[in-house]
Amino acid sequence: MVVLKSPEEIEKIRKSNIFVADILNEIRGMIRPGITTAELDRHSEKLALKEGAKPAFKGYMGYPFSLCTSVNSEVVHGMPSDRVLQAGDIISLDFGIYYKGYYGDAAITVPVGEVSDTAVKLSSTTEEALYNGIEEARAGNRLGDISAAVQEHVEAAGFSVVRDFVGHGIGKSLHEDPQIPNFGVRGRGIELKVGMVLAIEPMVNEGTYKVKVLSDGWTAVTTDGKLSAHFEHSVAITEDGPVILSKID
Ligand code: MF3
Ligand code: CO
Repeated sequence: MVVLKSPEEIEKIRKSNIFVADILNEIRGMIRPGITTAELDRHSEKLALKEGAKPAFKGYMGYPFSLCTSVNSEVVHGMPSDRVLQAGDIISLDFGIYYKGYYGDAAITVPVGEVSDTAVKLSSTTEEALYNGIEEARAGNRLGDISAAVQEHVEAAGFSVVRDFVGHGIGKSLHEDPQIPNFGVRGRGIELKVGMVLAIEPMVNEGTYKVKVLSDGWTAVTTDGKLSAHFEHSVAITEDGPVILSKID
C-alpha cells in the first residue's frame, strides 16, 4: 500500500533528510587514503546523536552499523570495518536517519584520491541516471517512467543496472511501497501521485548486473569483481513536480 503524505509530513521527512544530507557531506569530507570505514561509521553515528536523531540502519533487520560503506566491487550494504581506504578506491556512503517519527535516506559515491577514468565515468553516469529518474517523479507519470529513465542512461553509457535491489517509498517506515526498480518500461507500473515520497537509488555496475551477497549476510558484491556505484535521494512528488528532500549542497 502506497502511503500519500501531507505537505506537513513532507516537511518532517525533509527535516530527517537534511540531517542525512549534512552528515553525508561531512563524512565525504573525511574521505582520504588511510582512513578506515569504521571511523566513518563512528563519526556518522556521533553526528546523528548530537542532533538528537537516531541512525536508521543500526538494528534494522539486525544490521549492526549506522552507515553502509560499499567499496569498489561492493554494491550496497558494505559493512564498516578496519579496512583502510586506498587511493583509487570508490566508496558508496549510504546513510539513514529517524527523527520525530520520519525517516530520511540518501547515498553518494565518492572517489578516494585519484581514481581511474572508468571509476569517474561510472560514478557520474550513476548520479546522472538518478537525476534523470527524479525528473520523471511527477504526478500523472508511471513508476516505469522513473525506472526506464535510469536504465536508458546507464545502458547508453555501456554499464548495467543492478536487478536484485530496488528503491522504495519512505516516510514513517524506512521501506514503504512502492518498490522502485532501476529498470523498466515507460508507461507501466502504478500511477505517480502528489504526496508520494520516493527513495530513488540506482546501483550501477561496470560489468555484469549480477550480484551476490557475501557470507556476512549483508555485503552485496558484483559477481565479476568489477566496480559498482550507488547514488540515492529521497524525493517528494508535489504539485510543482519533484522536490529533492536530501539535497546535498
Ligand atoms: N539505503 C538502503 C536501503 O534503502 C540502506 C538500508 S541498509 C539497512 O535499503 F541496513 F538498513 F538495511
Ligand atoms: Co534506500
